[in-house]
Amino acid sequence: MSKTITITGAAGQIGYQLAFRIASGQLLGNSVKVNLNLLEITPALDALKGVAMELEDCAFPTLGKVSATDDAAAAFGDSNFAFLVGAKPRGPGMERSDLLIENAQIFSAQGKAINNNADKDIKVLVVGNPANTNALIASANAPDINPRSFSAMMRLDHNRAIAQLANKTNTHNSEIRKVAIWGNHSTTQYPDINHALVGSEKASDLVDETWVREDFIPRVQKRGAEIIQARGLSSAASAASAAIDHMRDWELGSSENDWVSMAIPSDGSYGISEGIIFSYPIVCQNGDFSIIQDLDLDNFSLDSIKHSEKELLEEREAIKHLL
Ligand code: NAD
Ligand code: LMR
Repeated sequence: MSKTITITGAAGQIGYQLAFRIASGQLLGNSVKVNLNLLEITPALDALKGVAMELEDCAFPTLGKVSATDDAAAAFGDSNFAFLVGAKPRGPGMERSDLLIENAQIFSAQGKAINNNADKDIKVLVVGNPANTNALIASANAPDINPRSFSAMMRLDHNRAIAQLANKTNTHNSEIRKVAIWGNHSTTQYPDINHALVGSEKASDLVDETWVREDFIPRVQKRGAEIIQARGLSSAASAASAAIDHMRDWELGSSENDWVSMAIPSDGSYGISEGIIFSYPIVCQNGDFSIIQDLDLDNFSLDSIKHSEKELLEEREAIKHLL
């Protein structure tokens, strides 16, 4: 079996991690050959050719053909999975929403290219920021593709929340289950451990509320900025890792008795406006996803979720000419 996978911005920081991990079988396993379509802007084509040469030099048994191009129609041709990474990253002192107008055009053009060229059952993960609204733009420009094929990445936030809770409780990441990130991939996101488990114990019995509100939540919300401050560049290896986690679980199923966080088109669950790309606790099965329903949310949680919804509605308003 072989699958075609498109990576945009493939010569960039995240793309440079992602391409090799996917080529080595870390997305779809050892029995699937992957053909990689790498898309870049024209000035980055030389660097992209270098990436393609290095992929060749790895001689991965799971790698089929590699194409390096600046032509979006070719890059999305018959694509089964697309990682939309290519976009400008923020620098120190910027919010992700500062990138909205600058990056929006990229996602309307790529939405059209996906619509006209990709496999109709494609799965699309938007990583380029502001990821949720970029996913909305791409989807709106791909009217022949099911909107549920478009998602945005919250898995990095989800993984960050797991790591913070494991550190605090002196346990291992593998002991933590049912963490959720709600809302936007921005500082309004709501990292929620009210339903989380540490081994068989409730997380809320092991950590106090002051730590959750004053340390955990802001830490996860602002972790991207903390990385930029430390590295001088935005997160890349952890972002690529989360992108693979997101797409692998979507395609192959998420772990039993656990949740993941994915930003997907809201269907109105939990009173959130339909259509915006909102992160919910999710389970994946049979190549599809469903929202965990009927969770009890306290007033703090409801207010936090509404706050993030408001930001996404404002972002949608700012780019409505592209929808
Ligand atoms: P980077 O600057 O290293 O790489 C981006 C690449 O995209 C560049 O090589 C650039 O030439 C290319 N590019 C620009 N416009 C393009 C287009 N129209 N088509 C194809 N390629 C194009 O940036 P990076 O560190 O890899 O980050 C990429 C994006 O991912 C940024 O927007 C960043 O903020 C975002 N990001 C999101 C998350 C998340 O959790 N959602 C995490 C980390 C980074
Ligand atoms: C992150 O969360 O690390 C990325 O979205 C990059 C950023 O700008 O914070």
